[in-house]
Amino acid sequence: MTDRMPIIAGNWKMHRDHLEAIQLVQKLAYHLNPEDYEGQEVLVCPPFVSLRSIQTLIQSDKLPIGLGAQNCHDQDEGAFTGEISAGMLARLDVSYVLCGHSERRALFGETDEVVNAKVVAVQRHGLRPILCVGEVQEERESGRADEVVIDQLRGSLQGITISDAAELVIAYEPVWAIGTGLTATPDDAQQMCAVIRTELAALYSQPIADGVRIQYGGSVKPGNVRELMGQPDIDGALVGGASLSSEDFALIVGHRR
Ligand code: 13P
Repeated sequence: MTDRMPIIAGNWKMHRDHLEAIQLVQKLAYHLNPEDYEGQEVLVCPPFVSLRSIQTLIQSDKLPIGLGAQNCHDQDEGAFTGEISAGMLARLDVSYVLCGHSERRALFGETDEVVNAKVVAVQRHGLRPILCVGEVQEERESGRADEVVIDQLRGSLQGITISDAAELVIAYEPVWAIGTGLTATPDDAQQMCAVIRTELAALYSQPIADGVRIQYGGSVKPGNVRELMGQPDIDGALVGGASLSSEDFALIVGHRR
């Protein structure tokens, strides 16, 4: 048994305008039972433009839902047209920031070095990074998945101190399972999450590794979440497509019912 508090996060990606975002959170709150929140964190990560509206909704309706952002810049301010800093996110009561999502890595050229700078910036502002790692299909098929994920971890955690490491959330998202309907088997997902925990123990210490929460992401649905969450090293889910349906996301959050 573990006392790590599960964390279920919805990554909305580039979906929903701010009016639709308000509706989605209102519907989600309607579908969730009070006991669904008990002993676990529930988080939504909408596009930047909806953060302020959802922050206000969460505050005014006293919803036990946390707010996450999908990305940030590593600098605090400056001539970086189109970018958002971690400090700005902190002012919006954002508590988590996705760092190094595979879409950021693949489509926007984010290297481990860039991801590392973002993790540092997020922690500088007292927010918690959700560091995303995961192999592509060809890396899995060639038996290199563990090595790839370990390299991503090491590269993205350069210079992160032991006390900052304790605040991390890691999301294992095999790229081939994202948005494809293919899910890693619970055994495969568990195996990689255990590899990640072992690496955290090597990089930091066993108590740190035992405390860090590791999410699985990649086609998580109401029908597969329970088995995934039942694995000893899986402490949560990072949900894409299914988080855009209030009913489905509520079923995922309420998987213990
Ligand atoms: P899907 O749940 O749509 O596969 O997306 C997973 C993901 O990328 C979450 O960050």
